[in-house]
Amino acid sequence: MKNKEILLVPGPTPVVDEIYEALASETRGHTDARFVAIYKRAIENTKKLFNTDGEVYVVAGSGTLAMEMAIVNTVAEGERLLVISHGYFGDRFTPLAKAYGIEVDVLQAEWGKRVEIEAVREQLASYTYKAVTVTHADTSTGVASDLETLIPIIKAAGALAIVDGVVATAALQEDMSKAYGGNEAYKIDIALTGSQKAIGVPPGLAIIAFSKQALAAREALETVRAYYADIHNWRPIMDNPANYFATPPVNLIYAYDKALEIVLEEGMEKREARHIMYGRAVREALRSYGMTPLADEEVAAATLSCILYPEGVEDAAFRSNLASRGVIVAGSLAHLAGKAFRIGHMGNTTPDQLEKAIRLIGEVLMEQGVQVDIEQAVDILHQELNSYVK
Ligand SMILES: Cc1ncc(COP(=O)(O)O)c(C=O)c1O
Repeated sequence: MKNKEILLVPGPTPVVDEIYEALASETRGHTDARFVAIYKRAIENTKKLFNTDGEVYVVAGSGTLAMEMAIVNTVAEGERLLVISHGYFGDRFTPLAKAYGIEVDVLQAEWGKRVEIEAVREQLASYTYKAVTVTHADTSTGVASDLETLIPIIKAAGALAIVDGVVATAALQEDMSKAYGGNEAYKIDIALTGSQKAIGVPPGLAIIAFSKQALAAREALETVRAYYADIHNWRPIMDNPANYFATPPVNLIYAYDKALEIVLEEGMEKREARHIMYGRAVREALRSYGMTPLADEEVAAATLSCILYPEGVEDAAFRSNLASRGVIVAGSLAHLAGKAFRIGHMGNTTPDQLEKAIRLIGEVLMEQGVQVDIEQAVDILHQELNSYVK
């Protein structure tokens, strides 16, 4: 099935034919040995993706379920969680944790900026936190977190480091064996994601990895206030997918298995470099149209960008005119609604698709009375892309 449109919302992302083919494979029973072998391989490859010697869980659900699994399996009622938020999705951890009776403090950045590191240090010195959440890239603002600085600070304070990689995993490295700052004690404890972003599978899978320390935190809790989200209930299935707890989404697992093959074949180092180039290339090309990314380049995410409209461009008309030409981008959230759009540039998106998008965005801007130089923008895009693309 060839895609008819170029889906550049910040997830779901374009699904390539190989993955569609896997998705459309014959549905088998979830205990069928042929399916069990594929699920097993997908679980093993998820461990490779995060380079973890801990455990991974791949279950039906979305990124929000993975967020919930992270919190409910490690932080008890009455314990304290610190949320480092760079936007709407960082904020989501607050009501989620409060629903479980967890005490939550939030450090919220102005949209488009990062939380000051000094503020994180001060907050961690003020209370004992069981865990700290960091949204690797926030999909509302296009701001990426600085894990290199944050993980050592969080771990030095004795908290678990929970990384929401929903719009980062498989594009930016989340290597759970990496000793941040060269210290073996400073590692990511939990990384979580959904299937529909840089992995390039349709929505429907919650994916989460726990370090040994995070697993010890789960054991120390004994019981948790969850059933579907309790990793104890899933462990027998992750150990041997022939076991049953709740019916797995068989066809999504086929697709995920294929997607992981593609990711691991490219390799995370190359994949990260490619995404960094994509991000720069798209933003530079759009800058030449007089459009301004919300986030400064030093803090901008490689996977998606939130782009402010130039004077006179009307959001709904811009996006619908672009959609009628076959390129789909997203509106912005909260106070930025109508003032900016969001464009994804991740997963299996190709340079050709990005070029087409830049050309068509130029056409739509011209239609709305903004004078732009489309050929120059395309040249800029390619200059940036050529610094990487094979
Ligand atoms: C960074 C981030 N975290 C969490 C979520 C929630 O994921 P889902 O919508 O799959 O539940 C999203 C969704 O876009 C996200 O971008």
